[in-house]
Amino acid sequence: MTIHIGAAPGDIAETVLMPGDPYRARWAAETFLDDAKLVNEVRGMLGFTGTYKGNRVTIQGSGMGMPSLSIYANELISQYDAQTLIRIGSCGGMQPHVSVRDVIIAMSATTITSPSSGIFREVNFAPTASYDLLAAAVAAAKTRGTTTHVGGIYSSDVFYAERPDLDEQMVRHGILGVEMEAAELYTLAARHGRRALAILTVSDHLQTGEALPAEDREQTFGDMVEIALEAAFS
Ligand code: HPA
Repeated sequence: MTIHIGAAPGDIAETVLMPGDPYRARWAAETFLDDAKLVNEVRGMLGFTGTYKGNRVTIQGSGMGMPSLSIYANELISQYDAQTLIRIGSCGGMQPHVSVRDVIIAMSATTITSPSSGIFREVNFAPTASYDLLAAAVAAAKTRGTTTHVGGIYSSDVFYAERPDLDEQMVRHGILGVEMEAAELYTLAARHGRRALAILTVSDHLQTGEALPAEDREQTFGDMVEIALEAAFS
């Protein structure tokens, strides 16, 4: 047990998928895992452990934003010895060739700040995905025929941005989408020698204003969960 995770030692698998939304953790566990068992409900941040094709996996909600994800990822790594952490979440599309429902596999995650940025002082650390996971996810997405983009994303501190000029610079530099968690996950994984990846479904688009209809969310989210599970155990 940790401050924020009530699971007993051994209840958390080496491989952890992390959606922001705890209800999505429950849905993904019930839909894709065998023998899924609730292992955490502290603060309603649900976590489940089960198996996928015989491999043990935990699906643990991270909450929204890097400070929240940082709490769960730190405890999963330091207290439960998680080795592979894959964020599964949504993002806003930032390029004209990226459409709602597409999947983005994040090679790097740019930030203004993150919970870790204080330790780097004048250095702009480049939070980067684990290449083997990234390559496996790209292969899994290709096999499924999912429209997928691979490249840089922007991990923002805010959902309601008041600085449109920052978004413009991200777009200008080829950033594919904006979300709020991946950079801290990549930084923590680098610090502790673990594997990390963020796989994102484009749920809305900053330029076109298009948004994924509620009835499409489950199917699109399911594609991403399966890509993550295939990548984790390939
Ligand atoms: N901004 C930040 N995070 C997000 C967005 C967005 O537009 N869409 C989904 N997550």
